[in-house]
Amino acid sequence: MLIRVAKEKDIAKLVEFDQKLYTLHENLKDPHPLAKRGQKGITKRLTRYLVAELNGQIVGTLYFKKVARYLVVSHIWVEDCCRKQGIGAALLKTAIKIGKEKGCKSIKLTVRDVNTDAKEMYSKLGFVPGGVLLFLDIE
Ligand SMILES: CC(C)(COP(=O)(O)OP(=O)(O)OC[C@H]1O[C@@H](n2cnc3c(N)ncnc32)[C@H](O)[C@@H]1OP(=O)(O)O)[C@@H](O)C(=O)NCCC(=O)NCCS
Repeated sequence: MLIRVAKEKDIAKLVEFDQKLYTLHENLKDPHPLAKRGQKGITKRLTRYLVAELNGQIVGTLYFKKVARYLVVSHIWVEDCCRKQGIGAALLKTAIKIGKEKGCKSIKLTVRDVNTDAKEMYSKLGFVPGGVLLFLDIE
């Protein structure tokens, strides 16, 4: 397995993964953000995507962005076929390394309380709760 920064040839896969992620969140029905940004924007942000490559196939991704002294991580996705093989953890470990190289003081991400798989992964890597995500149902 190889973890690397995304390249232009990976864009279609990134869009596909992001759309799958969006279906997990019933409140995110907008078209894929990458699709709205145009080629220039996509290319610019590509260096903030990591991809996991297994046997020549892209099977996972993660997006990161330095905000102040945090590395904010989001859009973590591993294909169904390849879960529970350490790919999500490998993506996160690479993001942690990048965060250290960039002089960040911590890695920040959000996770739904119901997402037990992801919470288990974050916890194993040493992530601890540092806030509460509040929701108000207004429908
Ligand atoms: C969450 C997700 C990225 C995990 O990816 P993964 O490659 O399967 O995770 P890993 O194999 O690296 O697992 C690392 C640890 O997480 C935990 N874990 C992962 N999947 C788990 C599951 N289905 N059940 C219980 N624990 C799980 C385990 O503790 C595992 O450690 P172990 O291998 O020593 O048992 C993947 O399930 C996924 O893409 N889910 C849908 C998208 C999503 O929820 N993204 C996160 C949004 S916040």
